[in-house]
This record gives sequence, C-alpha cells and structure tokens, in this order.
Amino acid sequence: MLGMDETLAVALAAAKAAGALHLEGLGRVRQVRTKGHNDLVTDVDVAAEAAIRAIIGEAFPDHAIVGEESGGTLTDGPCWVVDPLDGTTNYAHGFPFFAVSIAWCIDRKPVLGVIHQATSRETFWALEGRGAFLNGQPIHVSAVPEPSGALVATGFAADVGLDPRNTTEFLAALKKVQAVRRPGSAALDLAAVACGRFDAFWEYGLAPWDVAAGALLVTEAGGRVSAVDGGSFALEARTILASNGLLHETFRDVLTVPAGDQA
Ligand code: IPD
Ligand code: CA
Ligand code: CA
Repeated sequence: MLGMDETLAVALAAAKAAGALHLEGLGRVRQVRTKGHNDLVTDVDVAAEAAIRAIIGEAFPDHAIVGEESGGTLTDGPCWVVDPLDGTTNYAHGFPFFAVSIAWCIDRKPVLGVIHQATSRETFWALEGRGAFLNGQPIHVSAVPEPSGALVATGFAADVGLDPRNTTEFLAALKKVQAVRRPGSAALDLAAVACGRFDAFWEYGLAPWDVAAGALLVTEAGGRVSAVDGGSFALEARTILASNGLLHETFRDVLTVPAGDQA
C-alpha cells in the first residue's frame, strides 16, 4: 500500500499527463460533440481521461475511478473522482481557462486533490490535514471580511435555464459585491478561492468531479465550503458555496435571503 506522498505523486503525474494533452490539442480540437444542451465534449476530454485512468489504474488497480467521460460510480472506500478537462467550452473556443481536476476520496470525502492549469503552469494540490499548495508554496484564502469588498465567481450548468436561482442570485450578488466573474471552470474557480484571488464562489448543478478536488483545496487553505443555503457540503449535492470563511454567512444571505429581509 502506497503512502499519501506516493499517492499524491501518482495524482500529479496523471494531472500533468492530462495537461500535456490539453496543450497539444489547444487550438486544433478535431472533434467537438454535444452530450446535452450546451454540454460539449472534445476528443481531448476523452484522451485526457484515458491517460489519467491508465496512470491511476496501474498504481492502484483495486481503486474505483469515476470520470466525467467514461463513467463509474462514486463508492465508499477509496475512489478517484476525475474531471479530465474542466472548462471544455472555453477549451473548444481557444479561451485559455481550463484545467484537469483529480481527487482521491475515502468514503465519498476528498482527502487528496490536484488541479492543474497547463496554460499558466499552475499546479494546486491539497492533502487532508496537511494544507493546500500552489506550485509547492502554501496558499491561504483571502481576509476580505464583507461582501462589499469581495470579488466573487459563479458558474452555470449547461441547463442553466431550468433553475431560476441562477439568475436571481447572480443579480443579487451583482448589487452587493465589488464584482462578479463567470470564468467557466469550477475547479479553477475553487482553486482561486483557495489562493485568495476570489473571496467566494457558488454554483448549482455541479457534478462530483467538478468540485471534489477544489472543495478540499478551499478547506485546507482555511476557507469554508457548504451548500448554497448553508447546509453541509456533499459531493453529490449539486450545490456549493465556497468562501474565505469570514464572509460565508453574510454572502450566503446576499444570495438566498430577499434583500428586504437581510440584516
Ligand atoms: C463545467 C465548468 C463550468 C461550470 C459547468 C461545468 P466542464 O465543466 O466547470 O465552469 O459552470 O457547470 O459543467 O463541462 O467544462 O467539465
Ligand atoms: Ca467540469
Ligand atoms: Ca469536464
């Protein structure tokens, strides 16, 4: 049985292999198909997942793997949760904001997370109880105490039109924070909260592979992760609010409490 450091080394090797494929295919994506309304998949998504599965599968033949492109079931016990290319729409348009996200979970809780953005050569990783790092340096969430001084981010699931909270909460945030961004990679948005670039991030409809590594990064960097309504976070809950902790409750109220009822 490999220790945590060796397990991290495998995850980093898998993330770097995926990142190399991202760069190789950037600007010359050969196939883009849709797997749902506005939900794209390129040949690079598929190739990156195959590369990740090969590396993890060789090191840990008895671990479960859940990947966005080839499936699998989130199980109790050791389970890898993989988004081979988070930000596919950006990728397909040549907008360089995308990453690979790999988490190792025990009993459905992330204990190791790696997010690698090949274009910026930034590799984020976190281990439960050991902190969060960017290119080997410890990172920490921001110290912004109030929504009024905050740069926050959100995202929209491919079926954005179906959930009215997407628009009501986006407008509510716009009125109360310094600025709102919608960069297009939930994994990188969470990594940005972890290293203090964003003060908070929220989204509905995300899958476990979008949030597993990033949620661990945020908590290990000193931040807080919950459901948007403040309930407890779970990989399969399809609701996430991540923040620096300091503004968590006030920002949750900005999103979820009608303006006239806020403190
Ligand atoms: C998407 C990105 C995007 C988020 C979507 C996700 P994908 O993942 O994370 O930022 O808003 O909800 O589906 O499809 O590019 O891996
Ligand atoms: Ca994703
Ligand atoms: Ca993806």
